[in-house]
Amino acid sequence: MEMKSLFDKDIPKKYFFSSRSIDPSRSPFIKLRISILYTASSLEELVQILSVEKMTCANFKFARFKVEEGQLDYATWIHSVTELGRVIQGEVDMKNPSIQLGITIIDDRWIFGIYERNESPWEKHNLKPYTNSNSLETRTARAVVNIAVGQQIQTRLVDPCCGIGTVVLEALSLAIPVTGYEISWTIANQAKQNVSYFGYDRCIIKGDMHEITEKYDVAILDLPYGLFSHVTDKQQKSIIHASRHITEKLILITCVDMDEEITCAGFTIVDCCTVTKGTFVRYVRVCR
Ligand SMILES: C[S@@+](CC[C@H](N)C(=O)[O-])C[C@H]1O[C@@H](n2cnc3c(N)ncnc32)[C@H](O)[C@@H]1O
Repeated sequence: MEMKSLFDKDIPKKYFFSSRSIDPSRSPFIKLRISILYTASSLEELVQILSVEKMTCANFKFARFKVEEGQLDYATWIHSVTELGRVIQGEVDMKNPSIQLGITIIDDRWIFGIYERNESPWEKHNLKPYTNSNSLETRTARAVVNIAVGQQIQTRLVDPCCGIGTVVLEALSLAIPVTGYEISWTIANQAKQNVSYFGYDRCIIKGDMHEITEKYDVAILDLPYGLFSHVTDKQQKSIIHASRHITEKLILITCVDMDEEITCAGFTIVDCCTVTKGTFVRYVRVCR
């Protein structure tokens, strides 16, 4: 669902080609990106292209990576990078390269480009001062944010029941304008401290989501389910209904199947999946 939202297509394989320039660190489910510079039908042709183009790099190294269905074994890779390295104008720097290059062969086509790996920037958010055992995993929160906004980074996002701010932090680190509402004074205060710990501006409001009067482009609602506070079915339904008034698009996360309640609130479910954390299952619904 996240890849579909970012790249506008279903991705059946572990690799794919796209003309969209998405930072590989944006998603927890992208390992690396090769920004293709040249393709060729053989190593000799690729060497020739780099030589003619006078490919120049200040200091570089070749990164080794595996691609599902990639046809480049280790011996061929070593031979290839040696040959290519000979014609690239620049110094090989294994310790501090300013650029990393990558090659692979897919469907008998040699692919050469700039290699960038995912730096997993969300991992530092696991060190936030306050956590809750019922919080979303940071990876899940980041993927849900990507599902919510897709390509539209400037989308106005709201998390109407933000807890300690797991979703809010991921949105902030992706430079997405976000506001989080939290009814509990203690939890709202913890969310505020989590956000300011990473140097972000105030965007957490202590308040009841029923009182939100602003309209947002998209909402991510991790429905309260009464593990730490008592929430009745009626209250849950009322929160889903209230969301209809604040957003056009809703990403709803629930612990039980609530498809009927979602439809009753006037939403149409356009995509869905489940996420598991141990034995705990969460239902993710994209609603319009
Ligand atoms: C499932 S938790 C959110 C967890 C959060 N996504 C995280 O990963 O940390 C739901 C939160 O909604 C809050 N809440 C419940 N009713 C609310 C309401 N009417 N308005 C705003 N927040 C509410 C609860 O206090 C709880 O912290």
